[in-house]
Amino acid sequence: MKDDKLIQNNKKGWDAIADEWFGSTALPTYAPLMKTEDDLNLFGNIDGQVVLDIGCGSGHSLKYMGDKRAKELWGLDLSSRQIQNAKQHLGANGYHANLFESPMEANPGIPTEHFDIVYSIYAFGWTMDLDTSLRLVSSYLKKGGMFVFSWDHPLTPCLDNDGDRLIIAKSYHDTGTLSMNKSGNEMNIKKWKLSSYIDGFKKHGLYLDTLVEDVDASVFDHVENDLSKYYSKDKSKLVPLSIIIKAIKKIENED
Ligand SMILES: C[S@@+](CC[C@H](N)C(=O)[O-])C[C@H]1O[C@@H](n2cnc3c(N)ncnc32)[C@H](O)[C@@H]1O
Repeated sequence: MKDDKLIQNNKKGWDAIADEWFGSTALPTYAPLMKTEDDLNLFGNIDGQVVLDIGCGSGHSLKYMGDKRAKELWGLDLSSRQIQNAKQHLGANGYHANLFESPMEANPGIPTEHFDIVYSIYAFGWTMDLDTSLRLVSSYLKKGGMFVFSWDHPLTPCLDNDGDRLIIAKSYHDTGTLSMNKSGNEMNIKKWKLSSYIDGFKKHGLYLDTLVEDVDASVFDHVENDLSKYYSKDKSKLVPLSIIIKAIKKIENED
């Protein structure tokens, strides 16, 4: 697999920090400081839908889907600890899900053309191979099915602060690998552009339906200067720090 070493390194990191992230970013929340599914209703009626969660973490979003009467719950996550936590959390709430411990850059045995909804809540941007991950997402979806994901806005990793001024510290154009430290664990992500996603959709038979950049209204009432935080209310008054994207798998012969 492309970038196997980086993926293995991220797995080690996520196994170590999984318990700290129990239920941290889960539906109806899409992302810090952003509008929620309660505001946006991107999924519509979930009753009877077959759903797959990419980067399912502790399973809290799958529980949300179960509570909304999804017909089948499927999930995939790189981290064995996250999968263990998801099994425990879903089981304790009376749900059974088909869970796979696997990087999203491979198909561990997930059926193709099977899902009405594939979604990923603050996990899809961890992919080391966007092209392969989008190809797989598209293959899992039924025609007309939807892919919804949330992630950092492509500008967010470029931002920094110089005192009380927000500055662009990294080039938006650069799509290289970024290293970060999470609770003492060295991890890597790749920096994508907005067009990286849109180009990938086009290549793999998906089209953009909705792009959400709306921050939560509470952000604008905030007065404290917190520009130095990664997810800062002050920053998000100026620029959205996350995006939420809904794409649809094309039906044959659709333009
Ligand atoms: C911020 S957490 C997502 C939380 C989750 N959506 C929830 O509702 O609990 C990001 C997740 O992505 C997973 N992840 C990171 N890289 C991955 C990869 N290459 N393939 C699959 N999952 C990955 C991590 O193990 C972690 O569980």
